[in-house]
Amino acid sequence: MNLIVCENYEEVSQKAFEIMKEIVASKPNATLGLATGSSPIGLYKKMVEDHQKHNTSYEAITSFNLDEYVGLSKDHPESYYSFMYHNLFDHINIKEENIHLPQGNGELEQRCNEYEAEIAKYVVDIQLLGVGRNGHIGFNEPGTPFTQTTHIVTLDDKTIQDNARFFNNNVNEVPTQAITMGIATIMKAKKVLLIASGENKAEAIYNLVHGEIREECPVTVLQKHADVVVIVDKAAASNLK
Ligand code: GLP
Repeated sequence: MNLIVCENYEEVSQKAFEIMKEIVASKPNATLGLATGSSPIGLYKKMVEDHQKHNTSYEAITSFNLDEYVGLSKDHPESYYSFMYHNLFDHINIKEENIHLPQGNGELEQRCNEYEAEIAKYVVDIQLLGVGRNGHIGFNEPGTPFTQTTHIVTLDDKTIQDNARFFNNNVNEVPTQAITMGIATIMKAKKVLLIASGENKAEAIYNLVHGEIREECPVTVLQKHADVVVIVDKAAASNLK
């Protein structure tokens, strides 16, 4: 595991951008695994700026997102679909048909199977991840078997509390379920790039680096991956030895 500790969020975003740019520049038809949440917003801003300034092309890039809430329409402002278009896809030249986001409505089991089958046609060159306070990756909550592929989850209380900030600070408005790539899906990526900032991630980062590998803390599975880069700010690194 390659651990990079940065001064602040800006530097985390810059370092993550450099890794992403290296892949997009060296492999124009790369497959990117993308994430939502507040952590990747700075990185996406830098990708957009770079596309605008340097014409970095996403024309042949394919993307797969990690997860989506169940029951929100695509155009709901807090759907991950809206998030991705607003923060990235609307501002780069990625082709609509190369964008893949899990869909959290309709026949859910079929949605999971179709998404997993679609990803299986590709090799994800880099999977971007944030991490939940409770160690979740994607929406794989504590206790998720490491063998899981794309599936429906019931969100943890901690996750619902954390995400209430996007839903008028009202836990009752946060969807209770989500569709997410499984841990087995995530682990198939060639490279994993995890970014985190802020003290509320310090325990999860401690577990990622020093903790025992266990399903109760999903992020610890990354210790088994051959190519993981972890970029954190000082606050998220504050529990590390
Ligand atoms: C969300 C997402 C995760 C994300 C995590 C942390 O619930 N499903 O993919 O990594 O929680 O979010 P943030 O970056 O906003 O702290």
